[in-house]
Amino acid sequence: MWIFAVRVFLGILLCASYQCLECPFGCECFAVTRTVKCVSEDLLAVPQSTPGYAKTVIITGNNIHQVGPESFTEMENVTNIILSNNRITEMASHSFSALLNLRFLDLSENQLALIHPEALSIPGSPLQELNLSHSLHNFTALTDLTTALRWGGLRGLLRLDLSGNHLALLPPGMFSHLPNLQQLFLTNNSLVAVYRGTFSGTSRLELLDLTHNIFITFGADALKELQRLGNIRILLGDNPYTCSCEISPFVAWLNESTAQVDVDAVRCASPRGLRDTRLRGLRVHAIGCVDAVQAEVLDLTLQTSYVFLGLVLGLVGMVFLFVLYLNRKGMKKWIVDMRDACREVLEAYHHRYEIDSDPRLRHISENADVNS
Ligand SMILES: *[C@@H]1O[C@H](CO)[C@@H](O)[C@H](O)[C@H]1NC(C)=O
Ligand SMILES: *[C@@H]1O[C@H](CO)[C@@H](O)[C@H](O)[C@H]1NC(C)=O
Ligand SMILES: *[C@@H]1O[C@H](CO)[C@@H](O)[C@H](O)[C@H]1NC(C)=O
Ligand SMILES: *[C@@H]1O[C@H](CO)[C@@H](O)[C@H](O)[C@H]1NC(C)=O
Ligand SMILES: *[C@@H]1O[C@H](CO)[C@@H](O)[C@H](O)[C@H]1NC(C)=O
Repeated sequence: MWIFAVRVFLGILLCASYQCLECPFGCECFAVTRTVKCVSEDLLAVPQSTPGYAKTVIITGNNIHQVGPESFTEMENVTNIILSNNRITEMASHSFSALLNLRFLDLSENQLALIHPEALSIPGSPLQELNLSHSLHNFTALTDLTTALRWGGLRGLLRLDLSGNHLALLPPGMFSHLPNLQQLFLTNNSLVAVYRGTFSGTSRLELLDLTHNIFITFGADALKELQRLGNIRILLGDNPYTCSCEISPFVAWLNESTAQVDVDAVRCASPRGLRDTRLRGLRVHAIGCVDAVQAEVLDLTLQTSYVFLGLVLGLVGMVFLFVLYLNRKGMKKWIVDMRDACREVLEAYHHRYEIDSDPRLRHISENADVNS
C-alpha cells in the first residue's frame, strides 16, 4: 500500500503530462512539437517504445554501433530521424522499413563500414532526404552504398548529401536509380574527375555541389557530362584549378555555359602569377596558349613550304626533261662530239701508257722530262 502510494506520488511529480509516462529512458519527449530527443546519453541501442505521437526522433551523440529492422518498430508516425554522431558502423537489411512515413533521414557523422544492399528500402519509397555527410568509413562502404542506392527503391529521394567522405571517385551510374534527385552535395571530398555517365539517370537534378574537391580542370568528357545536366545550378568553387593551356576548354565552357555556375569562386590556384584569377573570361594567351597556337601555325607553314618546295622541284625537273627532249638533235650531236673527244683523249692516254710501260723507252722519256 505504501509502496503503491509512493509510486503514484513520484509518477505525478516526475511525469505531470501523460506523454512523460511513455518517454523511453535517457530521452526527452515533447508532445507539443511531437519530438523525442535522446542526446549524448551513451545509449548502446536505439531506444524502444517511443510515444506514438512522435514525428521527429533525434538520437545523437550516443554509442550505437548497429541499426537493424528491430531498431525502429511501431514508429509509423515518424517522419524525421536524426541519427548523427552515434558511431554507427553497420546498417542491416530493412533497417528502416517499419518507418512508412519517413521523409528525412540524417546519418551524418557516423562510420558506416557495412551497409546491407537493402538497408535503405522502405515500402512505398517515402524517403525524400538522406544525409550521409562524414559517414562513410572507407571505399568499401561507398561500394556498399552504391548497391544500397540501387536496391533501396529510393524513387522519392530528392536530396542526397555525401559531403566529407574522402570520396576519390564515383562509381559510374551511382545515382542512376534516383530518378527524382534534385540536390546532390558532393562537397569536401577528394574528387579529381567527372566521367561520362557519372550523373546518368538524374534528369531532375537542380543543384550539384562539387566545391572543396581536388579538381585541377574539367576535361572534354566531364564538360559533356556537365553540359548534359542543362541549365541547373552547379557549384565548382574552391578547387585547385591549374591555369595552364590545358584548362582552356573549361574556360570556354565557363564563358559560354548556360548553367548557373558560382563563377566568382572558380579561380586559379596555380601558377603563382594567376593565383586567385577568375577562370571565366580568362584570355587564352594569359594561360600560355598563344605559344602553342603559334607553334601550330609555324608547323603548318613549315609543312606547306615543304610541299611547295617539292612542287617547285618537280616542275623544274619536268622543264629540264622537256628542254632535253626538244634539243634531242643537238644533244645527239653533242653526245657524239663528246664521245669523239673522249676517244681522242683516251687514245692519247693509251699511247702514252704504252710508251711508259715499254722498259726500253723509259729512260728516253725520262731524259726528255729532264730536258724539258
Ligand atoms: C499515429 O498518429 C495517429 C494520430 O495522430 C494515432 O491515431 C496513431 O495511434 C499513431 N500511431 C502510433 C503507432 O501510435
Ligand atoms: C548534413 O549534415 C551535416 C552535418 O550534420 C550538415 O552540416 C549538413 O548541412 C547536412 N546536409 C544538408 C543537405 O542539410
Ligand atoms: C574498409 O573497412 C572495413 C572495416 O574496417 C574493412 O574490412 C575493409 O577491408 C576496408 N576496405 C578498404 C578498401 O580499405
Ligand atoms: C571537410 O572534411 C574534413 C574531414 O573530412 C573536416 O575536418 C572539415 O571540417 C570539412 N570541411 C568543410 C568545409 O566542411
Ligand atoms: C573567354 O572569354 C574571354 C573574353 O570574355 C576571351 O578573351 C577568351 O578567349 C575566352 N576563352 C576561351 C577559352 O574561349
